Amino acid sequence: MAKIELTTSEQACELKEVETPSKAAPLVVDFKNVSKTFDAGTSRAFTAIKDVTFSVEDIPKIGEFIGVLGPSGCGKSTVLRLIAGLAPQFPATSGSVLVHGEPVTEPGPDRGFVFQDYANFPHRTVLDNVAFGLECRQVPEKERLERAREWIAKVGLDPKNDGNKYPHQLSGGMNQRVAIARTLIMHPRIILMDEPFGALDPTTRQRMQDLLVSLWRELEATVFFITHDIPEAVYLGDRVFIFTPSPGTIARQFAVAPPDRPAREMQMEPAFLDSVRHVRSLLDKLEDEKHNQTS
Ligand SMILES: Nc1ncnc2c1ncn2[C@@H]1O[C@H](COP(=O)(O)OP(=O)(O)O)[C@@H](O)[C@H]1O
Ligand SMILES: [Mg+2]
Repeated sequence: MAKIELTTSEQACELKEVETPSKAAPLVVDFKNVSKTFDAGTSRAFTAIKDVTFSVEDIPKIGEFIGVLGPSGCGKSTVLRLIAGLAPQFPATSGSVLVHGEPVTEPGPDRGFVFQDYANFPHRTVLDNVAFGLECRQVPEKERLERAREWIAKVGLDPKNDGNKYPHQLSGGMNQRVAIARTLIMHPRIILMDEPFGALDPTTRQRMQDLLVSLWRELEATVFFITHDIPEAVYLGDRVFIFTPSPGTIARQFAVAPPDRPAREMQMEPAFLDSVRHVRSLLDKLEDEKHNQTS
């Protein structure tokens, strides 16, 4: 495969285009010519994604972080929900979607999903929200609450003060921390994040980016992270996928430098800003092409 190796500081924010890896290593996720047409066969038929092909290798003890960028409605959520096995995006109309070499048939605990609107349970406390997955797995109460307290602390909340609060008593950033803890406590091998920080103010957002990087390093999972924020994708990603406007397909893939410094520091550096400009102009170009075709 085209290796993603940008580690020295001169290369830090250079963009290298990458090919989809060959089949040599085991693959965590493998899409081949995946298309999804909603309401197929009716007058409302709408093709959301077309011929999406990519693969992500299972890199032992690392896990890759993939930033997903593309215009609204290009099918980014569709791709994540196909990996998760969530209807109505799942199943695909054609093509193959493999996770750890097997066709996806349903959602599973190996894949955790974090949404923009957190989706915490309103009538459960923070502690019971975070412990929910373990409760479903019938982990004894003492153990699950202990692990939930650990995760509440890991996401930067205070188990004593915040553990007994309800979601409506928390800020957006705190709610998203709870949602992240609730998902990661299950140790999914694949973490699917659909614009998770989209509703947060810029300062909270950068803090959450740093938090995510540290948790991801610890979990060594593969992450797919959808965002509209180009700096966020370039900062967080090892690789960035750029989708075309609808029907979406992957126009380009870039290797970007891993986030080895705090968000606030790295996002000010000229090389980083160059990468962001490059990605932005590519996205603009794709949108212009689409606009010229349709006008
Ligand atoms: N259940 C559905 N039925 C019909 N069209 C849908 C459905 N879900 C999504 N779409 C359409 O598919 C396209 C891609 O949607 P989505 O994957 O949510 O895009 P993105 O996440 O990139 O904004 C959009 O045009 C959307 O309106
Ligand atoms: Mg979406």
